[in-house]
Amino acid sequence: MRKLLENAAQRAISYLEGLDSRSVAPSPEAIAKLTVLDQPLPEESREPELVLNLLDEICSSASMAMAGPRFFGFVIGGSLPVTLAANWLAGAWDQNTAYYNVTPATAYLEQIALRWILDLFHLPRECEGAFVTGATMANFSSLAAARHAMLKRSGWNVEADGLFGAPPITVIVGAEAHPSLIKALGLLGFGRNRTIKVPADSQGRLRADALPSLSGPTIVCTQAGNVNTGSFDPISEICEMAHRDGAWVHVDGAFGLWGLAVPSMAHITNGIDQADSWATDFHKWLNVPYDSGLAIVRDADALCGAMAVTADYLPTASPFRNPSDFTPELSRRARGVEVWAALQSLGRNGVAELVERTCRYARRFAEGFQSAGYEVLNDVVLNQVLVAFGDAETTNRVISGIQTDGTCWCGGTVWQGRTAMRISVSSWATTEEDVEQSLEAMLQIANKRNP
Ligand SMILES: Cc1ncc(COP(=O)(O)O)c(C=O)c1O
Repeated sequence: MRKLLENAAQRAISYLEGLDSRSVAPSPEAIAKLTVLDQPLPEESREPELVLNLLDEICSSASMAMAGPRFFGFVIGGSLPVTLAANWLAGAWDQNTAYYNVTPATAYLEQIALRWILDLFHLPRECEGAFVTGATMANFSSLAAARHAMLKRSGWNVEADGLFGAPPITVIVGAEAHPSLIKALGLLGFGRNRTIKVPADSQGRLRADALPSLSGPTIVCTQAGNVNTGSFDPISEICEMAHRDGAWVHVDGAFGLWGLAVPSMAHITNGIDQADSWATDFHKWLNVPYDSGLAIVRDADALCGAMAVTADYLPTASPFRNPSDFTPELSRRARGVEVWAALQSLGRNGVAELVERTCRYARRFAEGFQSAGYEVLNDVVLNQVLVAFGDAETTNRVISGIQTDGTCWCGGTVWQGRTAMRISVSSWATTEEDVEQSLEAMLQIANKRNP
């Protein structure tokens, strides 16, 4: 066992050390070699060393260098070395972190990590949380708590009796809500299309002046950090209006919620603490390994009411918090370990510095494009940049050229009718030199298309 695990660690270290000098996207040859894996199910056992060798030989070079410093697609953090190390150790522990009595260390770490996050984000201490796979499930868990609370007020037990015949709940979303939030609404039986869609402005912010008047059980879904522009809905204003009418306000803050940890961002995060629930990711800006996110709910009983299960064989009686009282999953890995390690290592100032640094790099990208004569489509208020290199065809060709070149990797989008390239600076590993090197490569490719 020792030899195998040391071999795996050596291979992982070599992989990470090689990220800076390899093409960010895997080569077509490396991808083509994946077919070597397309074999019939082996009949006989095989040496674990051979299995590991095959995995590394074929898959390492066919992987996208998302863990490296110049991957700017989607919203993807790398893994801080301390979080990867903690992940390895927690993997060895293999704790099914559902109940404190059975897995005290990892259940306790989650409790501490949650307390630290509430402190970091200046959210009320009485909030509860669910450590889940990501913002999609964090939205789901928060909205399950909202559904529980809204229907309980109307005398309806949704977990026991379902939604058939229940009092209707009005769900309000912004026109630029993330599709995963809409998916979560569908999973909860609210219907993906049964929402009231409020128009958004040019930055994707839900227009508070267009909110309909609210009556009856209502959930208003807001967003901190639009996936394309990074913009924040006017959450303070929305909370004030919605709470007057007894509505529940949810914030999808997959990455934007991390602005709460940065004092200089108070102007955009102001009032977010007034909401009833919040969803965020750890695998984005906190830079922990996939997958990891958090639902935070002010009304702890609502989250517990939506999620807790009991059975005679389950050791639910505990002097401390049982993680599974708050999560959709029963069996689950110990996600809090890496979160704890990241916060223990970075500290309050380190988190703020990481967020500020990556936002500064985003502004530098925007500046570089603008000085070269290209149009930046968004106000760069966070870590997201949208740039157009001309018409849709030209922009798509530049994106494709950048992906093939391999210096860095960015994806495309269509933002309010305009085709654009998206840049998201979310990795701890990105340095100023990475930004300059990437900018130079991008502009060279773009200038060739725009002689
Ligand atoms: C605003 C927002 N919400 C939700 C999500 C979904 O997050 P995940 O893929 O971690 O579930 C994203 C992903 O980028 C996002 O930007």
